[in-house]
Formats: sequence, C-alpha cells, structure tokens
Amino acid sequence: MWDYTPIVKDHFLNPRNVGDIPDADAVGEVGSLACGDALKLYLKLDENKEKIVDAKFQTFGCASAIASSSALTEMVKGKTLDEALAISNQEIADFLGGLPEEKMHCSVMGQEALEAAVAKYRGHEVPAHSHDHGPAYPDQEGTIVCKCFGITDIFLKKVIETNHLTTAEQVTHFTKAGGGCGGCIPKIKELIDEVIGTRAEEPRKRPEKLSNMKKMQLIQEVLERDIRPLLWADGGDLELIDIDGSRVQVAFRKACAGCASSGNTARMVELKLRDLVAEDIVVEEVPA
Ligand code: FES
Repeated sequence: MWDYTPIVKDHFLNPRNVGDIPDADAVGEVGSLACGDALKLYLKLDENKEKIVDAKFQTFGCASAIASSSALTEMVKGKTLDEALAISNQEIADFLGGLPEEKMHCSVMGQEALEAAVAKYRGHEVPAHSHDHGPAYPDQEGTIVCKCFGITDIFLKKVIETNHLTTAEQVTHFTKAGGGCGGCIPKIKELIDEVIGTRAEEPRKRPEKLSNMKKMQLIQEVLERDIRPLLWADGGDLELIDIDGSRVQVAFRKACAGCASSGNTARMVELKLRDLVAEDIVVEEVPA
C-alpha cells in the first residue's frame, strides 16, 4: 500500500474538475491505456484568450494519477497559458503534499498533458504515437529511447534535468522508461551522464541576495541535487524537516539514521548550503 498524503487521498476520493469541456479552447492528451495511464486535459480560456477560466480532465490511472490531474486543474485556473506552462511536475507533487517517488510519473503526465494542450492551441505539431508519453516539443520530437513506452530522448533529458535525477531507477519512477523489458536502461544511464556532464559545466555560485521564498527553494534544490544523490550512493538519505530563516532542520534516513558519522554528514550538508545558498545557514539534525 502506498503511503499517500491526506491531500492525495482527498483529491483521489473527491477529484476536482472531472469531465470534459465541449467547447474547450485547448485539449491535451497523453499516455495510453496500453501503458496503464492516460490523461485528457481540457482548458477553457476567457474571451480575450488570456487566462484559463476552466479546466477539466478525464483519466485512466491509479490514485496518484487521479490526484495529480485533479491538482493540476486546480492549479492552472486563473493563470495565463505561459504561467500554467511554468508549473513543474514537482510543483504538482508539492501541491499534493508530495508523492511517493515511484508515483512521480503521474505528476509528469499532468505536466505533459498541459504542454500538449498548449502546443496544440498554438498550432504546433504534437507527436501522436500509439504509446505516446512523448510531450509536446514542436519541431523536435527526438528519438525513441524506450520502445516499451514510446519515450524519447528529449523528453527523458528534460525530466532528468528538471528533477535532478541521478539513477535509472529514478528515471523509471518519473517516466516509466525502463520499467518494461529494461532494454533501454543502458541508454537511460548514458542520458543521465550526458545531463550531469552538462550540469557540471554550469558555473554555480551563491546568489548575492535572496528572498525568503527563493532561499527556501534553493535550499531544497541543493539538497535534492547535490546532497541526497551522494547519500543514496551509500544507502542513506535525508529528509528536510523545516526551514526557519537560516536554520535548516534535517533528519537522516536509511543507512544514515543513527550512523556514528551523522554529525560529520550534517556538517558537510551545512558547508554545501553555505557555499551555494547563504553563508549564515545552520544545519540541525533532528532525531530520525
Ligand atoms: S525499451 Fe524501455 S523498458 Fe523496454
């Protein structure tokens, strides 16, 4: 049984905005029944065609697919198409209080449906593969990497990059690629290396000024991108518990929980956050 948050359960049991919009301005469809998940998203714009005034969905999928679709329709209402497109799959998961990593592909599917709807509305070609999990990338459909799920290299690289993925298993959780025959896993690993190589070339330095909101976002980003993958490599993990100004509380999990070196690990986390976020960061370990 999955460990769903109360918000996921609520959106699964009482999904918002189920149904269709007969005179929708934009419709995006992704997934297929053959893949086990399918989502059709309908958007209605105001008379000036600027803001989304209504959003509905029809889906075939698990509890988290229904909850993610429900959340997405709530999130996009009142936004312009560009504002809606800026919603990341992580934000959909955050809206729901988090999703189990194995279910993150549901949040990705919601974002894909949105991209497909907007691309179609704007007159771009949308790939229409029978097993299509491929998103709306006009003019650059990419090469199919995962034949079982019809997933392209362009799509995989985008998901790896935006979610800071570092293992093929994570890529499977976020996209399903690799979750069938497994034949594409070596290629997925190559794509991860490619994206990580690109990341390594990016100069990163501590911002001069940060709003509280930005600071919190950056702390979370550094933990996900720079810290947790290192801990996973040794069978450990950490969870961000709270951020209060410059005080960051974390709990160590798995092999890191109760480890005699956790004090050193906390110090390593603190130094990394000071290096990339703000020099006054203090990391506190709370009991696991
Ligand atoms: S080709 Fe990707 S799982 Fe089969």
